[in-house]
Amino acid sequence: MSDLQTEAKTLEDQFTSAIADAETLDALEQVRVAALGKKGRVSELMKGLGKMSPEERKEAGPLLNGLKTRIADAITARQAMLHEAALEVQLEQERVDVTLPVAAAPAEQGRIHPNSQVMDEIVAIFADMGFDVKEGPDIETDEYNFTALNIPPEHPARQMHDTFYFHEQEDGSRLLLRTHTSPVQVRTMRSEKPPHRFIAPGRTFRCDSDQTHTPMFHQVEGMVIDETTHMGHLRWTLEEFARAYFEVDSVEMRFRPSYFPFTEPSMEVDIRCDRSGKDVKIGQGDDWMEILGCGMVNPNVLSASGLDPEVYQGFAFGIGIDRLAMLKYGAPDLRAFFDGDLRWLKHYGFSALDVPSLYGGLSR
Ligand code: DAH
Repeated sequence: MSDLQTEAKTLEDQFTSAIADAETLDALEQVRVAALGKKGRVSELMKGLGKMSPEERKEAGPLLNGLKTRIADAITARQAMLHEAALEVQLEQERVDVTLPVAAAPAEQGRIHPNSQVMDEIVAIFADMGFDVKEGPDIETDEYNFTALNIPPEHPARQMHDTFYFHEQEDGSRLLLRTHTSPVQVRTMRSEKPPHRFIAPGRTFRCDSDQTHTPMFHQVEGMVIDETTHMGHLRWTLEEFARAYFEVDSVEMRFRPSYFPFTEPSMEVDIRCDRSGKDVKIGQGDDWMEILGCGMVNPNVLSASGLDPEVYQGFAFGIGIDRLAMLKYGAPDLRAFFDGDLRWLKHYGFSALDVPSLYGGLSR
């Protein structure tokens, strides 16, 4: 064996075992550089080919090329093996637990305020009975909030409303924050042709604050006007509403004579309930709770709204939305409704994706 053959054999043995011993891709790369890199042992040997005679090169060329190819192949094979092994380790370590719950999307984290939820429920119920939904402005005139509703200046009912007034205008009149949603009755009757059948939910304001009163609160007004609507219709409508809203088979209602300037006769409506436990139970028990005011629309209101009371008649009602929300969803203090506390909203709020409907269920 020539010296070159011996050297080639030694290098091959040495690198072959170094390749087999390389435990990582980094270690293998070091072996590759030591053998085949620019200054590697095999590369150095091959540089010698140029100085050889053609005779010598004939023998040394295939010898060294063979050496280089076998070492390169061995490195490639080992590389593939180490890659494979590294992947196995990674797969073993990086497990995905597909049984973990999915993180909530933003639309699911957000919450609908109980008040908005209850308004949506009320709209769903009355829309199903064929009612339109109307809106009126929060800032009203004295005319719409009082006078046209048969509450002239100096009428004692004005004092009961604890009205927030704005500064006096040049003509001496004062705008105000509407104290109830009833002005929408007049606005609608003046701007649209009868028959009327609508509800008008919205914000209302009175200078009042305790556990069940806030300066800003919510009402929904209801009105039906045509030539034949009578008190039987009123009663059925309200009972149907209460039954649907409280999601019970039947509710017992009590119509108490009362007084509102804009209705004649006027009634306050109580529902049977049980207040002995922590939560109020609707439809059972020995207690009564007032939930709304209503009546047949006063002829003076029809006249003030441009309708002939000899031809048209109908009913109206006003419901406190916040109270209904507290009743149904068990929140004890109305003031917390308007604190803007996210923890409260997380507890009492509703998913934005559960839109209340009569066929899908009002609340789930
Ligand atoms: N507007 C009344 C209030 O805020 C509620 C009300 C009572 C409205 C009787 C009506 C009604 O439409 O007929 O106290």
